Amino acid sequence: MIIKTAKFLISASDYKKCPKNPLPEYAFIGRSNVGKSSLINMLTNYSHLAKTSGKPGKTQTINHFLINDAWYLVDLPGYGYAKTSKTKKVELGNIIEEYLMYRENLSCVFVLIDIRHEALYNDLQFMEWLGENEIPFVIIFTKADKLSQNQVNIAIEKYKATLLETWEELPPYFITSSETKQGREAVLDFIGKTNEEISK
Ligand code: GTP
Ligand code: MG
Repeated sequence: MIIKTAKFLISASDYKKCPKNPLPEYAFIGRSNVGKSSLINMLTNYSHLAKTSGKPGKTQTINHFLINDAWYLVDLPGYGYAKTSKTKKVELGNIIEEYLMYRENLSCVFVLIDIRHEALYNDLQFMEWLGENEIPFVIIFTKADKLSQNQVNIAIEKYKATLLETWEELPPYFITSSETKQGREAVLDFIGKTNEEISK
């Protein structure tokens, strides 16, 4: 898949204010600082399309990017950032939950996991919630450049074993780095194939 154009459209405070045109849509979700916004920039090859930050809690709204005038990438706020106030956490949680439940053209959710971390309870719980609500998702491991190839393999095997404690089948997964662009083609091919399925 070749990215010809990538445009920022709108920053919405809830799903009702998202773009009306029902194009295939892919949303990025995961803990604060996991690399959602960076991955959007890496995939599109536009280094400043989505706003990134070394400080967690940067993205606080639902951000739509129109790609090749044909499909959307969506940058969502992160979950599990300890310093966010309780009220704000509930508010962000509700925004995300409603968006995931009611956005009809949502094709697939990308759940981002920092490859350096052990499986975390709220990530596993979130994937279970997606499963219960029949929302399709795949896993994207981020920041692979921070580990050696051998450490990556070990981390993936460990994560898979944890998932298999609750899941009968593993979801598809991708190993990526926004620094080295590892995984770019694989993720874009997945999106291309899903777009084709949808248009059939
Ligand atoms: P929130 O919007 O706060 O939820 O964070 P986010 O998930 O959008 O993370 P963001 O893309 O802003 O990245 C957080 C930090 O991680 C930044 O300092 C990035 O430069 C860094 N980062 C993101 N992806 C990678 C990666 O693949 N490799 C390395 N080494 N650093 C990364
Ligand atoms: Mg962000």
